[in-house]
This record gives sequence, C-alpha cells and structure tokens, in this order.
Amino acid sequence: MRYNDIVLDHARNPRNAGFIEDHDGMGTYGDPNCGDFAVMTIKVRGGQLADVRYLVRGCGAAIATCSIATELVKGKPLNEAQKLSDEDVVEALGGLPPAKLHCSNLAASALQNAIEDYYKRQRTDLHNWRALYTKSMH
Ligand code: FES
Repeated sequence: MRYNDIVLDHARNPRNAGFIEDHDGMGTYGDPNCGDFAVMTIKVRGGQLADVRYLVRGCGAAIATCSIATELVKGKPLNEAQKLSDEDVVEALGGLPPAKLHCSNLAASALQNAIEDYYKRQRTDLHNWRALYTKSMH
C-alpha cells in the first residue's frame, strides 16, 4: 500500500495535534471496524474556530486525515467548518488507498461532534441563565 507525498507529510509531521484543556467543545469518534478513534477539542471565538486540536489512535492515514482536517477548518466560521466532509478530507490529501478510506471518517465526524458539543453547551448555558433570571424574579 502506497501513500502519496501529502499523506506522508501529514502523517510524519502532524499539524495541530494536542488537546485543548479549556476547550469550548469536545467530540470523539471511533471506528468500530478497527477500534481506532479520535478526540477533537475546539476553541470558539466570535463564531469562528479559533483553535482545533486532536488526539488520535490509528494508522498513518488516520493521523494525516486529522492533521489536514484541522488545517482546513482552523479560523473558519463554525457553520462552514461543520460542513467538512470525509470527501473533502480525502480530496485535500490528494486521495487515500481504497483500504484506508474508512480512516478519513474519524476526522470530520469527531470535528462535527465537537461542534455539536459546543452548541449543546451554549444551549445549556442559556437554559441556566433563564433559570437564574426566573428565580431572581420571585
Ligand atoms: Fe484504523 Fe486506519 S484508522 S486502519
């Protein structure tokens, strides 16, 4: 199985790897077929992805997909970042060997889960604020 130069570069020199301790959202995604998984943490400022980091357990293709996925969405508005698809990731990498295509599922799905988690936290905060406000009115 041969990886192209872009995949090899990202697998050997992963960009944006890590874990944001004070993240605004966190998403995980595992591949039940091989047991690999990724954790994405995001920082949101002004509706944009100010930072995005990942930890991944998987093969070189999984590392490369997470790495390039973060490069594709960093600094982008959330609603745009949320549209990142597995196909976008594979295309940006210049293709993956067919046997490794499933590895690209880790990155976009973990990111979408992190963004969803961010929105959920926003809704929760709003709910709590309303509860506090209502309480103070009595
Ligand atoms: Fe399992 Fe690549 S992530 S083989």
